[in-house]
Amino acid sequence: MDTLFSTIPIGRYTLRNRLVMAPMTRSRADDATGVPSALAATYYRQCANAGLIITEGTYPSPTGKGYVRTPGIHSQAQIEGWRTITNAVHAEGGRIFLQLMHTGRISHPSLQPDGAIPVAPSAVQPAGKVYTATGPQDFVMPRALTTDEVSDVVNEYRLATHNALKAGFDGVELHAASGYLPEQFLSSSTNQRTDRYGGSRANRARFILDVLEAMTAEAGSDRVGIKIAPEMGFNDISDATPQETYRYLVEQLATLKLAYLHVARTKSEFDYRAWLRPLFHGPYLQGGGLTRESAAALVEQGQADAVVFGSLYLANPDLVQRFRANATLNAPDRDTFYTPGPHGYIDYPTLEAAV
Ligand SMILES: Cc1cc2nc3c(=O)[nH]c(=O)nc-3n(C[C@H](O)[C@H](O)[C@H](O)COP(=O)(O)O)c2cc1C
Repeated sequence: MDTLFSTIPIGRYTLRNRLVMAPMTRSRADDATGVPSALAATYYRQCANAGLIITEGTYPSPTGKGYVRTPGIHSQAQIEGWRTITNAVHAEGGRIFLQLMHTGRISHPSLQPDGAIPVAPSAVQPAGKVYTATGPQDFVMPRALTTDEVSDVVNEYRLATHNALKAGFDGVELHAASGYLPEQFLSSSTNQRTDRYGGSRANRARFILDVLEAMTAEAGSDRVGIKIAPEMGFNDISDATPQETYRYLVEQLATLKLAYLHVARTKSEFDYRAWLRPLFHGPYLQGGGLTRESAAALVEQGQADAVVFGSLYLANPDLVQRFRANATLNAPDRDTFYTPGPHGYIDYPTLEAAV
């Protein structure tokens, strides 16, 4: 169990323990400006005991937005808003990476600048609904990006990385899971392109690799991580040959000397997390459905260098202290995951308060 609390080098940092707070959208930002809420500094400061915090998904540009009240990192006001958060985490000795999340086709005109149609690799409409300001609405048919526009989006990630560093983040994570834009390029069901971003496996992986190149050019590879979740099935996405696709992708990632690869568990019967581990060679984060015991076992068996907790972290901001004491845990309240305001956000009782 003690291995969870030992230090670990990740990129250019030495984390003080192996617990990582998962990226979690909490929908408390100002919807019009994309500036994170003033409460967010308290929320993230409470969790600064983690070896590393990965923030909620944050859009690199206005077209990347896919959910109401989510934050961005393209304007000066957003950079200043995030600055209070990174200052708060650093004051507690914590480390914090910003997750860059471009939702691509998993958006809606009501969330886009001037009511625009969401962009995607190809015009393939997702089944399902998107949560807008006026309630759930059907996804729309997205518009396929031109090849030149793909370069523009790659550049948006570069600028967003630049802005994240200006805001004081220790690094950035590319969200390449959950059926958002990077996975839309990677997956055969959503990518029907005939240019260099579509067709072969190498072409479908090119967008992710180009984005990482732009991010690492800005931050250095030792401050850039990536999250994947093969065969997650979320947001109506699939690939014809997922094992080959992810093998190829991770072999390419291994050459980039990234700060880490973060693999989240999916419902797939195939254990991607164990299978991909030896292909990567660098710091390896595993998350999804972990408990104190299962996480410690992964680290002790060398299957993960650090372990990622989502819902347990949001409900137990003092998770490190609780795990150390083997204390009982607060149960996450799903009803307040995405509701505005402090309730369910910064008012989970600490162990100290409970005692
Ligand atoms: C409220 C909530 C919001 C989430 N938002 C994001 C997100 O913005 N980006 C992301 O990569 N994953 C997101 N996730 C997934 C988590 O990062 C994590 O992979 C998932 O919760 C599984 O871990 P867990 O079983 O420890 O909760 C979210 C999860 C929750 C519970």
